Amino acid sequence: MNEVMKTILKRQTIREYKPEQITDEQLDALMQAALRAPSGRNGQPCHVRFVQNAEMLKEMNVDFKELVGYDTPAYTRWDTNPVYHNAPTFIVLFAEGESYMDGGIMCENICIAAEGMGLGTCIIASVGALFADGNEQGNKWKRAWDIPEEYKFLIAIAVGYPDEKPEMKPRFEDRIKVIK
Ligand SMILES: Cc1cc2nc3c(=O)[nH]c(=O)nc-3n(C[C@H](O)[C@H](O)[C@H](O)COP(=O)(O)O)c2cc1C
Repeated sequence: MNEVMKTILKRQTIREYKPEQITDEQLDALMQAALRAPSGRNGQPCHVRFVQNAEMLKEMNVDFKELVGYDTPAYTRWDTNPVYHNAPTFIVLFAEGESYMDGGIMCENICIAAEGMGLGTCIIASVGALFADGNEQGNKWKRAWDIPEEYKFLIAIAVGYPDEKPEMKPRFEDRIKVIK
């Protein structure tokens, strides 16, 4: 089996990370994977931030907890840090409009590239609550990351060296059929 297929088949969500930061070469490769992602009419709507500032990420986590409250599923998962799972690198995708398809395609490009370099990833949609329209806590981070306030959050990805080896999650194989 070729290396790309092997990489696709072994990717899985990682929610425990080693504290070591990814290397600058790996960071550069992930940025290339993001940049080379296809987009509708090559419109390239995604604005991507690779956040490696640990203090910033901790503060963002607190903002999220304050926002979602203490009696929600996010609170019961607080110990495992539902915002970025204590990963050293947190990638956030925004766009001027609701370019969720383009964001999803770029997201998987990044995840597969990361897997190919021995890194773990977790795709994170739940942090989107922080960036809901008009939310001042989210706008604070958009300003810090040079993202216009009106831009939409598309998706985020935690990246780092895996510190767990979960069971592979099952798939519904009957949902994919060949019609000849
Ligand atoms: C669009 C999307 C949003 C997701 N959001 C979250 C999230 O907010 N938090 C989280 O821990 N995992 C999140 N995940 C990871 C999924 O839970 C995971 O991909 C799924 O359980 C399958 O597991 P696997 O990736 O190991 O195959 C998300 C995945 C996708 C594709």
